[in-house]
Amino acid sequence: MLDSPEDKAGRVHIETYGCEMNRADSEIVSALLEEQGYLRAEHPDDAGVILVNTCAIREHAQERALANIAQLKRYKEADATVRIGVLGCLSTHLGETIAARLPFLDWILGPDAYRSLPVLLRTERKKQPTILLQSDRESELYEDLLPARRDGINAWVTISRGCSNHCTYCVVPKARGPERHRPLASIMREVNAAVEEGFPQVTLLGQNVNSWRGGDDGTPAFPDLLRQVAETPGLKRVRFLTSHPKDCSDELIHILGRGGAITPQLHLPVQAGSNAVLKRMNRRYTAEHYLELVDKAQNSIPGLLLSTDIIVGFPGESAEDFRRTLELVQWVGFDEAFVYKYSPRLGTPAFKLEDDVPDEVKIERLTLVNDVIRRSGRKRREKLIGSTLPVLIESDSARDPNEWMGRSPAGHVIVLPKGEQESPGDEISVRIEELSGFTLRGIRAD
Ligand code: SAH
Ligand code: SF4
Ligand code: F3S
Repeated sequence: MLDSPEDKAGRVHIETYGCEMNRADSEIVSALLEEQGYLRAEHPDDAGVILVNTCAIREHAQERALANIAQLKRYKEADATVRIGVLGCLSTHLGETIAARLPFLDWILGPDAYRSLPVLLRTERKKQPTILLQSDRESELYEDLLPARRDGINAWVTISRGCSNHCTYCVVPKARGPERHRPLASIMREVNAAVEEGFPQVTLLGQNVNSWRGGDDGTPAFPDLLRQVAETPGLKRVRFLTSHPKDCSDELIHILGRGGAITPQLHLPVQAGSNAVLKRMNRRYTAEHYLELVDKAQNSIPGLLLSTDIIVGFPGESAEDFRRTLELVQWVGFDEAFVYKYSPRLGTPAFKLEDDVPDEVKIERLTLVNDVIRRSGRKRREKLIGSTLPVLIESDSARDPNEWMGRSPAGHVIVLPKGEQESPGDEISVRIEELSGFTLRGIRAD
């Protein structure tokens, strides 16, 4: 324990980049440090320890994180006692390079090495950054820790770590190691604790969340877990990210239509519409299989919000291959999509393939897909105008402090004027009046 936690040395500032898994990990790191008496610093100026949790998924994310880390040197120049560490996927992806480029750093820790932090924080500064990429445990799941959550109405609950799918473009299997599943009891313990703490919504997280299994015999499976989580007294909504099409069972689709706390939302990354490209990506499904799944989902989940991820310009993606992606996107009519230009990642199998789609073609393809998604997203939202939906209030709206931002069960963003009676975490009835851009606007109806 620290003698005087009020001291700057006892304050930790964490910056987080990347996906929800990193956000959840930063809460685990906070919990590990708060257990030792450290306090949180909102601003790096007030912190004796600065940690940056990084992402390596694309070149752009990587370069942004590296540029920001380089900037942190000024805190050490101003105060030599300040200590700075890099956490997350970039550590495992490029640890040695970062250490050589930015020798002022104290630690470079991979996503499974965070338990070492309290000890490292008490250790004398070394001349070179300490690089620790693995846990000394056989399989790190941090299952015994309760993340230090702060604000918001949503609790992230990690149910699996790592990924063993080896999509050929992706750094995650290397950055986060093989897929490991957290035991059912520890997931339920965390869900119950989060609801008791006052979080009305839980989002179950994993890179391949729907392949979760409780035991070696394959049971309970992910739909069983979802059902059990949804029964937690006091829990209003459960969401999950990210599903892989090859593990999207009929049973999962079936229970998403069941209502209650289970939300009618499916984020199902397709990546490409051409089977040749899907094969080279090692996605292990065909476009036809994907369309079949989507068909089942659309038909059996009332009010479904369907979203996807797409990569344009994968090596060898011909005009014809791309046409198939565009056709698939038009056919499905997604509510939302994250569309990315392919970014070659060192050490991945696709890195050996020539990045032969010129950047201007990638940009053109990205724009074409985004245009289709914008149209289908708006069209599907327009259908909600005039209906009344239960909206879970999340926060002030970003634009106007006199308005709330909330979400429908499916996850549509809904903005409404503030009333006297409601506050974040409440679920209220809202009549949807209009669509502005991608945002639905409404008024309280009960
Ligand atoms: N596990 C999830 C996605 C994790 S990464 C899944 O498999 O669906 C989030 C998204 O980033 C991916 O779905 C993919 O669309 C994109 N992505 C991953 N690697 C990429 C790369 N090298 N270049 C461009 N986009 C990439
Ligand atoms: Fe990456 Fe594929 Fe795993 Fe998703 S499923 S994290 S894209 S390897
Ligand atoms: Fe990035 Fe790691 Fe997530 S690479 S997208 S932070 S799993």
